[in-house]
Amino acid sequence: MSTDILFRPFSLKSLNIKNRIVMAPMTRSFSPNGVPGDNVAEYYQKRAEGDVGLILSEGTVIDRVSSSNDPNIPHFYGEQSLAGWQKVINNVHAAGGSMAPQIWHMGVMYNHQSGWVPSQPFEGPSGLNNPELKNGVAMTEKDIEDTIIAYGKAAADAKRLGFDSVELHGAHGYLIDQFFWEGTNQRTDGYGGKTLAERTRFGAEVIKEVRRQVGEDFALIIRLSQFKPSAYDTKLAKNPEEMEAWLSPLVDAGVDILHCSQRRFWEPEFEGSDLNFAGWAKKITGKTTITVGSVGLSGDFFGAFKGEASEATSLDELTRRMERGDFDLVGVGRPLLADPSWVKKIHEGRTNELKGFTTAALQELVLD
Ligand SMILES: Cc1cc2nc3c(=O)[nH]c(=O)nc-3n(C[C@H](O)[C@H](O)[C@H](O)COP(=O)(O)O)c2cc1C
Repeated sequence: MSTDILFRPFSLKSLNIKNRIVMAPMTRSFSPNGVPGDNVAEYYQKRAEGDVGLILSEGTVIDRVSSSNDPNIPHFYGEQSLAGWQKVINNVHAAGGSMAPQIWHMGVMYNHQSGWVPSQPFEGPSGLNNPELKNGVAMTEKDIEDTIIAYGKAAADAKRLGFDSVELHGAHGYLIDQFFWEGTNQRTDGYGGKTLAERTRFGAEVIKEVRRQVGEDFALIIRLSQFKPSAYDTKLAKNPEEMEAWLSPLVDAGVDILHCSQRRFWEPEFEGSDLNFAGWAKKITGKTTITVGSVGLSGDFFGAFKGEASEATSLDELTRRMERGDFDLVGVGRPLLADPSWVKKIHEGRTNELKGFTTAALQELVLD
């Protein structure tokens, strides 16, 4: 089947990209003391040279003392870290690419295996990483207010440095998602509540503040997932009505693009339809959506963390769904970790040159 549909340009507000392929955000932990160096800039530049439409950075944390559990994860605050990001975006633009940072606060985490912990306890809605693990403190209303401001500041800096868009990490059991999920949000004030709609308040307020900082014309993405790494089978929204109650307040708050994270893009979200998460999100909200999850690979990313390799597979099912109008953009993770030229190879039909994925690619910033 033809892959032409993946190579149509796409424009939305500040975002003007040459094709529909989005590099999924992937934590690399190659930024000592939170500062991305020349090696990180070169890593992203290579993906731009390889014709990735939109590069999403690895998660990069906001200015809160305990927003990260790893000192090698990049900050998106502070003079030195922002100078590092300036170099990244300059290199990506010089190579004809587009990029958005993924703005992150981890919330309540487990301790890093190195033993490093931030100087203040992890913070989240109720101090919980999952219903069985309390490893932090419940945020006060002042903490929440300051955190929302820190998200807005990071987004304003992204725009100031010249990034094309910004993505909020609202998925995978981190801070924003800890507010969404009843398993980690047991608050009894206005940031908690029995319904998912009530628990979207924090996420919606973050979006409003970011929108206030970047203005109407800057494209704003939020990444969401139904699953949590600690509870894979969890679904925040158990049916389309609940999904609407979850997504509508986020859309009303001002988000432009919903990045719908799944492990395997072909898995249906609800019974009775083969639509995936991005398909339902688009149907319900009418917004632009990004699908992601094992595009072009045989195994999923949870397997990668357990040391499993994956082989290259066909894109036919992906393009079938895209031609049907299910989603607008396609996130690709591990193939682009392992091979900066993955997009070019797909475009030129050089499928025999695809590398697949092995965990060796996790140990370094692969440049060719
Ligand atoms: C090494 C690695 C690091 C990741 N780090 C992040 C991250 O920082 N933020 C995020 O939203 N997802 C992260 N993910 C998930 C990916 O963005 C993506 O959703 C997942 O790998 C599925 O896409 P794939 O099957 O194409 O690899 C990470 C995945 C991998 C393999």
